[in-house]
Formats: sequence, structure tokens, C-alpha cells
Amino acid sequence: MAVASYKLDGTGRLHHRVAIVTGASSGLGRGIALALAREGAHVICSDRVLEARQDGFEEDKHIPTHEVINNNGGKAFFQKCDLMNVPEIVALIRAAVEKFGKLDILVNNAGLWMPLRDYVEETEEQWDAMFAINAKGTATAMREAIKQFLTQPVDEVSGSRGRIVNISSAAGGITAIRRETTYAASKAAVAMVAQNAALDHAKDYININVVCPGVVRTGAAGINFRTPEIITEMQKGTPWPRLGEPSDIAKAVVFFCSDDAQWITGQRLAVDGGFTIGIPL
Ligand SMILES: NC(=O)c1ccc[n+]([C@@H]2O[C@H](COP(=O)([O-])OP(=O)(O)OC[C@H]3O[C@@H](n4cnc5c(N)ncnc54)[C@H](O)[C@@H]3O)[C@@H](O)[C@H]2O)c1
Repeated sequence: MAVASYKLDGTGRLHHRVAIVTGASSGLGRGIALALAREGAHVICSDRVLEARQDGFEEDKHIPTHEVINNNGGKAFFQKCDLMNVPEIVALIRAAVEKFGKLDILVNNAGLWMPLRDYVEETEEQWDAMFAINAKGTATAMREAIKQFLTQPVDEVSGSRGRIVNISSAAGGITAIRRETTYAASKAAVAMVAQNAALDHAKDYININVVCPGVVRTGAAGINFRTPEIITEMQKGTPWPRLGEPSDIAKAVVFFCSDDAQWITGQRLAVDGGFTIGIPL
């Protein structure tokens, strides 16, 4: 990526905003972190591991996300945070404020998905793991970010005290998708905790919105892109003539973080090539 593509001269839509992205080492989180940085945000790239998944599709996955940003003239650093560890979540928010003096944006992207299977084959361990990371981890990070936002004044330019974008899923309460029961329930929690907290904190000038991706080409979803029968099934379920890329999701996140979205809160936006609009027969 060329240096020129980074809008660090004040023309970016997120000039000098401070953003945390969870799960930023790979996949959607990496794409979101890069997109926010391109719009001029300072980015805290957070993940439980520094390295990108080696089964991911990024060509430069040998370079950590924050280094890609810094190598292109942006500002970023890596902060380890496992969303199952509350003290690490608290430390993540503190690290952003210590380094950049404030927090404007939290993108709750990190999440766990497990390969497709009927509900009867799912286990208690899978339920516990998906709810611990997707639901509780996201909810805790939201609460800690809101505590920080409430110590800050309303930003005169953005009109907000802070923005949160949760990454749910097309399966997260919009429609049922076969063989995703536990994941879908945990992702519905991701969407609902955002909607409820948005209601509580609109009065505080805090925007909280949700992006619900369809089938996107990442390491986690690799089986959907590497197994011919599943590729056919996913393409059949997606009316738009192609499946998704992390940049499709990142663009929607950037919009929710931008000044244009000042009066939008508590909303769920499906970015899914039409996966959830009807039965594509
Ligand atoms: N790829 C898709 O098709 C798709 C569709 C809908 C929703 N999503 C959601 O998008 C988000 C990103 O998915 P992805 O496909 O990029 O996955 P991915 O596995 O490629 O990347 C996820 C990143 O999150 C990190 N992570 C996992 N558990 C963590 C934890 N406990 N604490 C901190 N970091 C953790 C991983 O290390 C990894 O870097 C997830 O919430 C996922 O549920 C993805």
C-alpha cells in the first residue's frame, strides 16, 4: 500500500481520532485497522496474538498490522489483549489514553466462529467459549470504553463523546442461518448489547452501532473459500455476484466512525451482499 493512500494531512475523515480495534492482527480486524489509519486515525491494534493467522488471505500477513500502518506514515501500536481477560481489557483502554491522550473509537471485532454443524452436535465448551469471547468480551470492552468516554468532553468536530462499532454477523439476530446456532446466539448478544447501551448513552453523545457481515474472505472463514461444495453453497446464499472482502466491512465501519454518522445510533447494518434480504432461489 502506497504512503500516498494514507490521508494524514488533515483531509482524512478521522484525522487524529484515536481508535482501538480488537482482533486487529488478522482478517476483518486488520482490514478495519488499516482503513481507519488511512482516514487519519491513530490506531491501537489489539489482539491476543501479534501475528496474523497464517491461514489468512492477506499477502503481507508476515508484517504485523501496526507495522503496516507505521511503515506507511500512520500512527499505531500493538497492545496485547485477550477478550477473556478483564484486566487486559482495562489495560487496553488505559494504554490508548496514556499514549494518545484520549479514546474516540472502539471497534469490537474480535470473535470466535466454529465450523458449521447441526445444533445437536454442539457442546457446552463451544457455548462457553463463544459466549465468553463474543458476548462477554465485547460487552466488557464496551463498558470500559464508555467509562472513558464519560470522562471526555463532546468533541466539537465529530459531535460525539465516543463511538463504538460492534462486529456481529448476518447470523446475529437478523436471520437464522443453518448450522450456526450457538454462534448466532452469541452474535445476537453482540447486537443487542449495542442497541441497549445505545439507548442508555445517547444522552451522553455516545454512538453505538453494529455491522453484520455476510461471508467474508478471512482465515476464520477459510473453509467457506477453500472447499468447493461450501463455496457453491455460500455463493448460492449470497445474491450479489461475489462473496465479501474485509474492505467491504471496513468501509461500513469507517462510515459509522465518521462525522457523517453523528445522528445514527443503535443501528444494525448488514454488509452481506444481500445474504439476509430473502431466499435467493
Ligand atoms: N469472516 C466472516 O465471514 C465473518 C462473517 C460474520 C462475522 N464475522 C465476525 O468478524 C469478526 C472477525 O472475524 P474474522 O473472520 O476476521 O476472524 P479471524 O479469525 O480471521 O480474525 C480474528 C482475530 O481475532 C483474534 N481473536 C480471537 N479471539 C480473541 C480473543 N479472545 N481476544 C482477542 N483477540 C482474539 C484472533 O487472534 C484474530 O487475529 C469476528 O467477530 C467474526 O465473528 C466474520
